[in-house]
Amino acid sequence: MAPKIYIVIYSLYGHITAVAREIEAGLKEGGCDVVICRAPELLSAEILEKMHAPPADESIPLCTVADLAGADGIIFGLSTRFGMATAQLKSLWDSTGGMWQAGALVGKPAGVFVSTATQQGGQETAAVTWISQLTHHGMIFVPMGYTTPLLFGMDEIRGGSPYGAGTYAGADGSRMPSQLEKDIAQHQGKYFAGVATALRDGEAHRYFK
Ligand SMILES: Cc1cc2nc3c(=O)[nH]c(=O)nc-3n(C[C@H](O)[C@H](O)[C@H](O)COP(=O)(O)O)c2cc1C
Repeated sequence: MAPKIYIVIYSLYGHITAVAREIEAGLKEGGCDVVICRAPELLSAEILEKMHAPPADESIPLCTVADLAGADGIIFGLSTRFGMATAQLKSLWDSTGGMWQAGALVGKPAGVFVSTATQQGGQETAAVTWISQLTHHGMIFVPMGYTTPLLFGMDEIRGGSPYGAGTYAGADGSRMPSQLEKDIAQHQGKYFAGVATALRDGEAHRYFK
């Protein structure tokens, strides 16, 4: 059976969703079943209106903790707030105490990808600060490393790092993922698929049970 990978996102303006679609394509190419789900909104309608937020993408289901327990791996889409992940994603994760107690995610792989407005806006700090969330669950952080030469180029602006794929939304949010960023995201998905398959088949988490 194909490993089942969840891509867990919160995306206010669609940048993380766009990168998630590329990671999904890479995961599928690597032989995985993929579910993209989104963390529930926490902001009031009034605040969302002030932020000029478009309506939530209802084509993507809300994440449920019960579903996540059945994942063979999870990749988190971190839309950056002050250099860290969004409260929406953190709140979802704060609902996983029962899974933590049961060790439901022990030994399972986890990856991250990010979106920031600017180049120094915290792509790496968002990734690094999310690692503690994974660590406490006993998940295995799977960085992309420099597994693709696409990360070495210096001739155009691009998001992403050895931690995971990324995109720059621009200060006004008008920049959508470039082809290079999409290619890197697809690569991450395919690379993660290989690691997830190896870990699932090796059943690393069985030592906890
Ligand atoms: C309250 C708030 C804080 C933000 N903090 C940062 C930040 O620290 N660095 C940055 O580059 N962008 C920051 N942004 C911009 C978002 O990261 C950007 O809108 C997001 O990456 C776009 O992705 P999305 O369309 O998937 O939501 C912030 C946006 C908001 C609303």
